[in-house]
Order: sequence, then structure tokens, then C-alpha cells
Amino acid sequence: MIITVDGPAAAGKGELTQRLAKHFGFARLDTGKLYRAVGWRVLAGGGDPENEAAAVDAAKALAADDLEAPGLRSEEAAEAASKVAAIQAVRGVLLEFQRHFAAAPPGGRKGAVFDGRDTGTVVCPDAMIKLFLTASPEVRAIRRVKQLQEQGAEAIHGRVLQELKERDARDTTRNVAPLKPAEDALVIDTSDMDADAVFAAALDFISSQAPDQLPKS
Ligand code: DC
Repeated sequence: MIITVDGPAAAGKGELTQRLAKHFGFARLDTGKLYRAVGWRVLAGGGDPENEAAAVDAAKALAADDLEAPGLRSEEAAEAASKVAAIQAVRGVLLEFQRHFAAAPPGGRKGAVFDGRDTGTVVCPDAMIKLFLTASPEVRAIRRVKQLQEQGAEAIHGRVLQELKERDARDTTRNVAPLKPAEDALVIDTSDMDADAVFAAALDFISSQAPDQLPKS
């Protein structure tokens, strides 16, 4: 049982996927973290995230420790992630890991919740439940500034908004696995919704699509 939640940065995917995973007792994979870890590894080695050879080497060498690097939530890591994510060969290396996670969710869980950009379109095209969260860039920038400030980082709204727009443009226009809703995804605009309302809308959709398949917790 696979649930995919895709969408642009700060649309509310993290919160929703954590709640869904907890509610159903499923494993959760933050696929953006994989791309961030690859980008961060390239930067740490003094390389350029747009350099294919450096990015592919970093993807192949990715280790569990890389997923815990303290800088991963920074805007610098986000930008590097978006750059390595545009490289087909990097996506190929990470695709294998993600498909394996879907086929055999860790801990013997009966299902998995994916948080990403292409998890409903490319990684798990046969997922039973596909959601696509979006929100206006202005609202997403306000949320991202708040998140960064909670982490103790300095964040200026105008700059964060600009970076979000650049990242959106790169993620939606790239040739490989661009950010877009799957045809069978429910699109939820979270601009005027809080996390409880988004969770309720997702649960409604899930129970309408798969009333008998889901374990109730
Ligand atoms: O969700 P995030 O902000 O952690 O993602 C960081 C970047 O990684 C994002 O700009 C695009 C890329 N990404 C991707 O291309 N495919 C995914 N499934 C997840 C993230």
C-alpha cells in the first residue's frame, strides 16, 4: 500500500506525510532528503552540484550518515539538491533505492508514504493513493521563513521567496521527471488551510479510494 505526496517546497508535504505515516503505521520516505544529501556531499567535497560526474559519484557513495548531516535543511542544501536533481543519472541511482523502499518498506511495515516531487509520476506510478499539495509562492515563502527561523537560521522573506521561485522553475521545467501532478492525483491547494484541514482532506480522499484496504489505527 503506497501513498505518494508530491508538490513544491513548503506546500505542507512534510507535515502531512508524517501524520499519514503515523496514522496508518506506515514507513515514510522523505525523497527530497536524498537529493539534499547528494547536493550537500558535492558541496562538502568542494564540487559543483551541476557537474554530472561529481553529482553521480556523490549519489553512488551516499551513506546513511549523509542523511543525518546537520546542514541538510539549509537553503544552500536545497539549491544544491534542486541542481543535482536535474541530472538524469543521479535520478537513476536514487530511483533504485526508492523503488526498493516501496517494495519492502523497512520494519516490515505494510505500506509506505512518500514525500517528493515525482513519487506519484515516476517512482511509484502504480501507487494506490496520490496526492499533490500546492500553495501560492507567497504563502510558501512565509512558511519557509518560519521553519528556518525555528531552526535558528536567519531568513529574509524577499530572498526566500526569490529562491523558492527559482527552485520551482528549475523543478518544473527540467527534462527529467519534472514536478507535476500525476493524472490520478488529488490536487490540494493548502494556501488557506491549516495542517489539520489538509490531513482531514487527505483522509477523506484515502477512504473514498481505498475504503477496505486501509488499516485503521
Ligand atoms: O522537498 P525538498 O525541498 O527537500 O527537495 C529538495 C529538492 O530535491 C527539490 O528542489 C527538488 C529535488 N527533489 C526531486 O527532484 N525529486 C524528489 N522526489 C524530491 C526532491
